[in-house]
Amino acid sequence: MAKGKIKVVEVGPRDGLQNESRQLSVSLRSQLVEKLVATGEQFIEAGSFVSPQWVPQMAETEKILKRVYKKQSERKISRRADISVLVPNVKGMELAIRAGAKHVAIFAACSESFSKRNINCTIEESFQRFEAIVKMARSHRIKVRGYLSTAFGCPYEGAVSKAVVMHLADRILKLGVYEVSIGDTIGVATPLQVEKLLSQLERRVSLKKVAMHFHDTRGTALANVLKSLERGVRTFDASIGGLGGCPYASGASGNLSTEDLIYMLHGMGYSTGVDLKKLIQVSRWMSSKMQKTLPSKMSQAGSVPDYI
Ligand code: HMG
Ligand code: MG
Repeated sequence: MAKGKIKVVEVGPRDGLQNESRQLSVSLRSQLVEKLVATGEQFIEAGSFVSPQWVPQMAETEKILKRVYKKQSERKISRRADISVLVPNVKGMELAIRAGAKHVAIFAACSESFSKRNINCTIEESFQRFEAIVKMARSHRIKVRGYLSTAFGCPYEGAVSKAVVMHLADRILKLGVYEVSIGDTIGVATPLQVEKLLSQLERRVSLKKVAMHFHDTRGTALANVLKSLERGVRTFDASIGGLGGCPYASGASGNLSTEDLIYMLHGMGYSTGVDLKKLIQVSRWMSSKMQKTLPSKMSQAGSVPDYI
């Protein structure tokens, strides 16, 4: 029974790899993006223009962008995908423009301590930076996505007020992003929390412009996706293999795995455009390059049962 299309935003090459202690070469990171495109994934965050002192895993993202765009324009990749990159400030945006980015993502936190530790400024200062970035994006015809991290809990401050999340979601959308991704950065959310937040959020912003970004640190990510689907959300972020870990919980699994998400969605009758069998092969390839078993349940199970 077809239920409609779900947009899956693949964040493995950025949110996944930025949290892994093993640093991959530009060549391997580019191959990862190209392999993901070949699975039918249509929205892929390929890296970030952040400080290489802060996040060395994302250094030289410009080389990945240039390589993937070149291959797409020469049709050396059979499919096309919308490739985006994360930018924290004007300097990052300048670098992204120079590398030819057509799509960027800005990111704010819902708690002051996380904002300070993550991008070295207050939430208010981050919005001032974003205003400048959005202006630059408009004049270069670049699309801008927004993230709100720590929406369900902060590693330094604990509980985060829903009123703050609602206010910031409204504010970042008014700034001009086409979609806001609400992040459970440390994987603490439960379906009840998701239900409560979304039922309030939809009074303020259209859920058509909301994506959910769950981490599976405590095993609740898919349950949270299910609750979000029930409330009408149709866009989810996920990371190949569940790459990512969590810097605040050693040994914990990281982002929701893309193949676990897609298995559940396809089994429920939703379409994603992604070939799950190919995706599992990419996850296994990634596991060999990371030299460890990745957290994805689907890749560990290995096969996609035909009778589901
Ligand atoms: P800062 O140290 O305050 O920067 O870092 P600054 O403006 O004082 O400049 C210091 C030096 O950094 C200067 O170089 C700048 O040119 C350079 P110097 O003169 O000393 O040679 N610099 C840069 N270099 C490259 N790219 C740039 C850049 N900006 C300045 N963009 C900064 C501020 C924002 C750069 C830093 O804090 C940073 O890079 N933070 C990013 C950290 C990060 O990537 N965190 C992970 C993001 S994921 C997330 O937040 C959650 C999300 O995944 C959703 C979820 O899971 O919930 C989105
Ligand atoms: Mg994340």
